Order: sequence, then C-alpha cells, then structure tokens
Amino acid sequence: MSSLLRDLAGAVGEPHLLTDPAVLAGYTTDWTRRYHGTACCVVRPGSAAEVSEVVRCCARHAAALVPQGGNTGLVGGSVPAADSYRGGPDGHGGQDGRDGGAVVLSATRLTALGPVDTLAAQVTAGAGVTIGQLRAHAARAGFEYGVDLASRDSATVGGTIATNAGGMHGIRYGPTRAQLLGVAAVLADGCVINRLSGLPAESAGYDLAQLLAGSEGTLAVITAARLRLWPAGVAEAAALQAAIRAAVPGIRAAEYFEAAGLDLVRKRTGLALPLGRARAAYLLAEIAGTAVDAGRLSGAGLPPDAAVALDRSGRAALWAYRERITEAISASGIPHKMDVAVPVARLAAFRAELDGVVSAVAGGRDWPVIVFGHIGVGNLHVNVLGPDPGDTGVDEAVSRLAAAHGGSVSAEHGIGRAKTRWLGLTRAAPEIAAMRAIKTALDPAGLLNPGVLFPDCEDPEWRTPATAATSPTPT
Ligand code: FAD
Ligand code: MLT
Ligand code: ZN
Repeated sequence: MSSLLRDLAGAVGEPHLLTDPAVLAGYTTDWTRRYHGTACCVVRPGSAAEVSEVVRCCARHAAALVPQGGNTGLVGGSVPAADSYRGGPDGHGGQDGRDGGAVVLSATRLTALGPVDTLAAQVTAGAGVTIGQLRAHAARAGFEYGVDLASRDSATVGGTIATNAGGMHGIRYGPTRAQLLGVAAVLADGCVINRLSGLPAESAGYDLAQLLAGSEGTLAVITAARLRLWPAGVAEAAALQAAIRAAVPGIRAAEYFEAAGLDLVRKRTGLALPLGRARAAYLLAEIAGTAVDAGRLSGAGLPPDAAVALDRSGRAALWAYRERITEAISASGIPHKMDVAVPVARLAAFRAELDGVVSAVAGGRDWPVIVFGHIGVGNLHVNVLGPDPGDTGVDEAVSRLAAAHGGSVSAEHGIGRAKTRWLGLTRAAPEIAAMRAIKTALDPAGLLNPGVLFPDCEDPEWRTPATAATSPTPT
C-alpha cells in the first residue's frame, strides 16, 4: 500500500477506502458511459472532519481529488480523466506522473438530514443526501424542495449544488442556486468553512455558498448545505385559488386534496393519475364563466400541466378524484375525522406542524394522515387512520393545533358527540354558558339529543380545554 493510501485509510477508516478495480469501475465511469477515468482509490468520508483529512492527505501527496456525488452528471465532470495526474513525494509519480490516477471522494456517506425549520422554511442537508430523500423529508413536514429531476434517487445535494442543477420545477422555483442559503465545505488546503445559519439577511462579505453553486467540484468539497424550502401543497393551493378568484369572477369551488387521499381513491377506483405525474397536492377549482374567462385563467399562474375540463363529463371525471376521498378513507379503516378551520393565512403553518403532532401521538406507529377540504374557506378535513376508535389522543392533539393557529375544531361537521370535549378550545366558557342557557330555555328537561354539542359537566376533562378558549394563542 502506498503512503497516500495508508494516509487515506487513516483518514476514513479502511472499510471506506476502496481500491478493488472492479469496484472502482463504478466510480470512474460516468452516467453516459462515454467518460472513463483512472483512480487509485475511492474514499468515502463520513464527516466533514474526515473530508478535511482526506483533502489534506491529497494536498500533501499532490494527488488530484475528484469530488463525486451520485455520479449522474452528464458532462464527465464527476469522474477523473483517463490520464489522471497523481504526483507526489512518495514516488508514485512526479509532476509528469501518470500512474495510479486520482482520488475519488464519494460524498455519499454525508447523509445527515436536519429537522425542517418550519418557521424559516429551511433545512440543513448533508452533501450525500439524495434529492429524493430531501424531497420526501421536506414533504413530511408540509414543504417542497424546489429542485426535482429524474435522477432524484441518485443525484445528491452536493452534486446538484456543484452543477447548479435546474430540473423540472426551475420555471417556478429557479435552479439550485436559488435554493441555496449556506454551505459547509472543505477548501483545497483542508480548511473547513461553515455557513449553515441560513440568515435571511446578511451582508458581511463574499457569498461563498453562491460561489460554489456551479463550481463543479473545482473550488471546494461541499459537505452540507442550508436549503430553502417552499410550503408545499396547501400554501400553494391557497395562493392559486386566490389568484384564480382575482383573475375570473365566477369561482364556484376551490377544493384541496393531497397525494395520500388521491392514492386511496385510485386504489379503490382504478382511476388514472389526474395529471401526467404524481404531485404532492392538488387544487380542484370550478369556475362558471365564458370562454373569455377561460382565457383569463392563464393570468392566474396555473401550472403548465393543469388539467382543464370544459364539458360535463370531463368535469365529472375530475370531481371524482375529490368526491370519492371520504368513501376511500372509510374503506381503509375507521377514521378519526377532524374538521378544522384555520385562517387561510395560517393554513401552511398548520399543515406543516400537523404530521409531527400526529406522529407524537402515534409514538412510532404508522398512522396515515389524509388531508383534504375546502381550502378557500380555510377548512381542512384531517383524517387519521390507525388509532383505536375509542382513543381520543389524536383528536385532541389536532384540535389543539387548530386552536393554537387561531382556528376552530369544527368548520362544517358540527360538534356531535365526537368533539364535545374540545368545544372549549373554540368557544369561551361564557359563550358555552350562554348556549346552555338557550338550550335549557327551549328544552328544560334535556330531552333533545342529550350528549350532543355540549360538554358533559360531569366529565372532568372537558374543563381542561375550555380554559384555552379565553386565550387562544395563534403563533
Ligand atoms: P455527480 O454527477 O456525482 O457530480 C457532478 C459534478 O458535481 C461533478 O463536477 C462533481 O465533481 C461535483 N460534485 C459532486 N458532489 C460534490 C461535492 N460534494 N462537492 C463538490 N463538488 C461535487 N440535471 C439537471 O440540471 N436537470 C435535470 O433535469 C436533470 N435530469 C437528469 C435526469 C437523468 C436521468 C440523469 C441521469 C441526469 C440528469 N441531470 C439533470 C444531470 C445530473 O443529475 C445533475 O447534474 C446532478 O446535479 C448531478 O448530481 P450528482 O450528485 O449525481 O453529482
Ligand atoms: C367533504 O368535504 O367531502 C365532506 O366534508 C366529507 C368528509 O369530510 O369526509
Ligand atoms: Zn367538507
């Protein structure tokens, strides 16, 4: 083993130093199979500190270093040159050395993925996180990462920054550069830079993150990035329905649903995807108007792949996706149905926190959350499958979340027997007392629908949420 390889093994640990030619071939041939290079080894560091150590080794041995992510690049930039130079003082080649080849630094073990900061709409991701993993992570928190590309399951955060990848949503969100708020990287001398705070306002000198966007591995090895996220689904749908309302007068419906509900409907009905490919969320808008109104819709910023139905059967076909959600949910289990209203401006924040709130109650159990509803009026139907029918934990948690966002525990279904305990989250104690007085005046014997609407005064638990109504705390 040469001194370079020994040093590299010391930096990353022997299991992460690859020298088997059969293994190296996968790292030295690019995705197109047009470019083949020579490498003396592949190193797979597991931390920024190890990356730094690798870079220092290469600098010491004057060995060329090729950073690599998912190796999906299409221009030969992710593999060494066929006559890759590696010189160095250990006799493996001098300035003109041609033996051995470069060191390929695979970033695919840098997979740390921080929690989504729902207030700032940001996340920190390791350079080796794939775009698919990042997008799924963001989606679980109700956000979308602005870059998507067909290579998503291999292409990495580091590689997409290094190429300033565009992808299929560039028209809406811009390229990777536009998502980039900060980086951690290792410079050619092994020094580590760390700019991951994601400060929205900063003007203290050069923007190194932006410098590395499109740098193609020629300036530094990116180890992590602070990335902008976009509110997925609900915020976009709310904005779009508002834009449609502004563009045309006759909006009759603005209905929201998400992939989870659509998937259940499709499983039950066999219907095809409504748009060319799966999306995280959908807005179904119905507009009464003329052909002139239809023309005005283009000004509302409809996505390019929007499905438009002008005749009765086309409209019915689109409505089926929305109208069959309730039955599809019930066919999958006994749902806990929460019918909350929140101010339209709070929809995104509510939705972003919802999955976390349900997960906290689920405690590791997989409880699907299916969200849909009448978005124009801020009414979301939150359906949770999985909890025992008698278990009220998730009902309470979701109701409290709605209340915390200045919302109501019922938008249109009423209180029934299901939500009497949570009425106090929405109506203050004096209001409930006034309603009781009205009820007693008209039904003094309590004959009519006992147990519905009013919290049971004997139930010690209803008083707990009631206190919250006097001081709802929108965040
Ligand atoms: P790699 O291919 O491994 O590397 C690409 C470049 O980045 C190299 O120069 C490499 O040295 C550098 N690099 C990688 N990681 C780091 C790091 N941690 N630090 C510093 N430099 C690094 N591209 C688009 O822009 N839009 C598309 O829509 C698109 N669609 C594609 C579809 C398919 C099916 C395929 C195969 C490719 C597609 N690409 C697309 C190209 C490719 O996916 C992108 O260029 C992507 O950004 C490469 O990411 P990667 O992690 O695979 O990087
Ligand atoms: C609906 O909007 O479809 C109904 O309120 C039914 C439901 O919430 O499941
Ligand atoms: Zn409804």
